Amino acid sequence: MKTSIVRPTQVRAGSKASFSRRTVSRGIKTLLLSVVSGFMLSVSAVSVQAEPELPHYSGQARLGSQTCGGSTCHGAAKPWANSAVLQNEFVTWSTDDPHSGAYKALSSDRGKRIAKNLGIEDARQEKVCLDCHTDNVPKELQSKNFDIADGVGCESCHGGAVEWLGLHVSGFGEREDYLNAGIYPTEDPKARAKLCLSCHLSDPRKSITHRIMGAGHPRLAFELDTFTANQPAHYRIDADYKQRKQQSSGVKVWAVGQAMAAQITVEALMDKNRNSAGIFPELFYFDCYACHHSMEEPRWEKRESVNIGPGVPRLNDSNLVMLRVLATAVDPAMSATLLDQTRALHESSSKGQDATLKALGDLSGTVSSLVDRFAASDFDAPAMWKIYDALVAEGLKGEFVDLITAEQATMALGSILAAIEASGASDDLQGYNDALAKAYTAIDKSEEYTSAKYTAALKLLAAARK
Ligand code: HEC
Ligand code: HEC
Ligand code: HEC
Ligand code: HEC
Repeated sequence: MKTSIVRPTQVRAGSKASFSRRTVSRGIKTLLLSVVSGFMLSVSAVSVQAEPELPHYSGQARLGSQTCGGSTCHGAAKPWANSAVLQNEFVTWSTDDPHSGAYKALSSDRGKRIAKNLGIEDARQEKVCLDCHTDNVPKELQSKNFDIADGVGCESCHGGAVEWLGLHVSGFGEREDYLNAGIYPTEDPKARAKLCLSCHLSDPRKSITHRIMGAGHPRLAFELDTFTANQPAHYRIDADYKQRKQQSSGVKVWAVGQAMAAQITVEALMDKNRNSAGIFPELFYFDCYACHHSMEEPRWEKRESVNIGPGVPRLNDSNLVMLRVLATAVDPAMSATLLDQTRALHESSSKGQDATLKALGDLSGTVSSLVDRFAASDFDAPAMWKIYDALVAEGLKGEFVDLITAEQATMALGSILAAIEASGASDDLQGYNDALAKAYTAIDKSEEYTSAKYTAALKLLAAARK
């Protein structure tokens, strides 16, 4: 019997979320186990081949998405029955994946408004915008079929194809050969997190600022597993896939994504080129709704992990809260350390630069050790349920009063339920769908968010466990 978990197709900050049913077939468990016990270990040994450079900076020449999109290559109208990969990736990307429209967004009404407010004549000529909205590699790396208007294309994520196309068309080669030839390891959670977050959060070499937000750019909200599902997938994780590639549960993908996001934030706050805007701190890394909300209804509430009282801007600590909950379930001592260090960071923001750098330094070590730890662990069903319970409990304690944290918690709960379902460990998760949908509705419109509504959803999520 198939069960399904409701997850939104869109988790766009402040806009209407729409729901889709994500059905995951049963019977995966046995395969998973055999993969974990044998093949996966050897593959992860291979992909430990250091930190690959992001496609954006790798200096690999580009052929252009159209080159990948031939009808006998990745541009078939429908998936092929007897092929290892779907072969219709190009069609999925060009019709359903927002990345194919990312360049066009720069000349949309909103794009034009942002540009005008920043005093930019045309955002399609502006490096800062192009770096995230297309495959903005230097001219000398662009072959004749490359078109900048294709937006975030195949090679933005998989790497410039010139180096591996020969191997690719030959039909020979193991995954290891491709990795050696420079294809980007998108299947590896850490590498994938680094790739997606470079545009969806921040990157030392791309400058995203509160000034750009102020000009009208949508707030960036990201969770790796949910966004991987929403992209939508142009691949199928079947038996053949598991033979060729390492495969990770959604919970691992979520956990690594959270740890990497926290690490990227901590690094940005330590970087003097990015942590300030004149005499002000760079507000991009703060909780937007600490400042942006109506004053008609007083809404400030104390949070145990934020010890700075009312009237002080708060850093966006949503990823740190998720990490702390994850640690509660896998390593309680680590969780206590994270709580202390996060509180010290919040406190330091009103003490001055030196105190902040000291707090960030401490946090940085903890967070990067968690990146590696999660990347090396797997979560079985009891561990996933433990994390689920810890998340709900944290919310009921009043830690999700801020929308940004509630938003991360919601995507996390969706990820966990989908991963439990995919593991085949639970027969019937239908009872969770309504409760999860309520949580998604509570975070849907920022101006309507209240912690009371969210708590009501959390109670349903807790009751579904009984
Ligand atoms: C750090 C990467 C980054 C930079 C820099 C950046 N953007 Fe974006 N932009 C994004 C991401 C990611 C989204 C999608 C956000 C979401 O929906 O989660 C987005 C969304 C948008 C949208 C909304 C698209 C839609 O379909 O509604 C517009 C318009 C836009 N950006 C314009 C710009 C302009 C103009 C600039 C330059 C001033 C710029 N962006 C700079 C990453 C970036
Ligand atoms: C925003 C990033 C992104 C873009 C753009 C993108 N992909 Fe992918 N692609 C992924 C991820 C993530 C996966 C899943 C992990 C994996 O298998 O490596 C994947 C997987 C694949 C696979 C592997 C399927 C398998 O069974 O091994 C193929 C083939 C593929 N993509 C082709 C394409 C083509 C062709 C395009 C352009 C039309 C494209 N991708 C655009 C991120 C992207
Ligand atoms: C080169 C920059 C870049 C990279 C790398 C990238 N994205 Fe995006 N992504 C964008 C931009 C820009 C948009 C907004 C496109 C638009 O709406 O016009 C976007 C939109 C999205 C959306 C739709 C968001 C929404 O609210 O509708 C999802 C989902 C998404 N990306 C997932 C991913 C995932 C998963 C990865 C990594 C595998 C990834 N992205 C890598 C730039 C990037
Ligand atoms: C410390 C307080 C503070 C934080 C935190 C903050 N902002 Fe702002 N924001 C401001 C101020 C001050 C302005 C300028 C208001 C004006 O020009 O009227 C502003 C302006 C804006 C505007 C333009 C408002 C308008 O009416 O057009 C937007 C949009 C915006 N911020 C988005 C964000 C986002 C997204 C975040 C989180 C990443 C954020 N802000 C974090 C204080 C803050």
